[in-house]
Amino acid sequence: MSDHRMTQPDESVLTDELVRDAAALDAADPLAPLRELFVLDGGVYLDGNSLGALPAHVPARVADVVARQWGELRIHSWRESGWWDAPERIGDRIAPLVGAGPGQIVVGDSTSVNVFKAVVAGVRLSADESRTDIVVDAATFPTDGYVAESAARLTGRRIVHADPRELSAALGPATAVVLLNHVDYRSGRLHDLPALTAAVHEAGAIAVWDLCHSAGALPVDLDAHGVDLAVGCTYKYLNGGPGSPAYLYVAERHQEAFESPLPGWNSHADPFAMDHRYTPAGGAARGRVGTPDILSLLALDAALDVWEGVDMDSVRAKSLALTDFFLRCAETYAEGGLNGVDSRVSSLTPVAHEARGSQIALRCAEAPAVMDRLAGRGVVGDLRGPDVLRFGFTPLYTGFEDVRRAAAALGEVLAEVPRA
Ligand SMILES: Cc1ncc(COP(=O)(O)O)c(C=O)c1O
Repeated sequence: MSDHRMTQPDESVLTDELVRDAAALDAADPLAPLRELFVLDGGVYLDGNSLGALPAHVPARVADVVARQWGELRIHSWRESGWWDAPERIGDRIAPLVGAGPGQIVVGDSTSVNVFKAVVAGVRLSADESRTDIVVDAATFPTDGYVAESAARLTGRRIVHADPRELSAALGPATAVVLLNHVDYRSGRLHDLPALTAAVHEAGAIAVWDLCHSAGALPVDLDAHGVDLAVGCTYKYLNGGPGSPAYLYVAERHQEAFESPLPGWNSHADPFAMDHRYTPAGGAARGRVGTPDILSLLALDAALDVWEGVDMDSVRAKSLALTDFFLRCAETYAEGGLNGVDSRVSSLTPVAHEARGSQIALRCAEAPAVMDRLAGRGVVGDLRGPDVLRFGFTPLYTGFEDVRRAAAALGEVLAEVPRA
């Protein structure tokens, strides 16, 4: 037993306390009733930061889209079922979840494709040949980095990698665009969007944020902080389903000058005029490309119903309470506690609330074997190789007893898996 644990009370007292506290926290949780809206099993699902759970009403809605809207109305559904305008209409449903006013978000394509649109359009918005640098989060989710590289080649710019915590050193009169992840997908670190956006603006550059790991997990407040462009996926905390379309935010003040590098016919001011000259649509529709992926889009539309009446501040409060409780449980259940010299697991996720997203990443030398065995016990997280156990906490359907059970299972598994 490590030194720090010898000062703790008896282990069974601690675990009894955790059982009692989990029950009390669940009983006092104002979001607890929302769990009933989702299809879950008896296990503990901590992978909603990869693929959100299915809201129970979605299959019937998708069945209606297929059988009636497509099967019976066929081509008429583009108008009668609102298919044509769905990318903007559903964008307006996502808008309040990320603090955006209406008319600034369009849904469609993947996050990767929207990163491309945003970075190239950002360079064009910066409209200054002496601004040669596209600054990219050094720890970015890889796709953003790959796409930004290509965007740099196409626009004659160069890539500069920077740790968001030391961003100011990378900024200057040569900065055109800065592409940052709001929450780091690996460590769960939350970056300071208001301060970093202000610093980017101070340098006269365009701020592009990737919200994949923050939208639906915490308040983002795009408009309030003057973000220029943003992208995000909908299959994680927004529960849109596997491969559900992503979104692009273009702040209203930039829409007139926003020049998409993929000006497909859906972004034309009058698409059915079939004009060979391109005239861009106004508003969010300017970010569209080709025919929308209606089945996925309307599954997402249905899934967004679960957010009706949900306040993002209570989501954030619960998310922090869940991750705090998980850290406390892991400290008790995991052999050697957390972050000690004898510990099997140490947290990569910041302790400070202001720097924490909605996941906990634990470094563990035996991570692959541990994650496998957790899955065998019905606890689903994911592995970020080679040695990170990642657990996502989705406030709409994760409870405190779930968290305790997951940490208890982690403790059992660590006791079974020999140290590497
Ligand atoms: C931060 C971040 N950006 C981008 C992506 C990739 O998005 P897509 O596959 O929709 O292009 C992911 C996927 O998990 C992600 O976590």
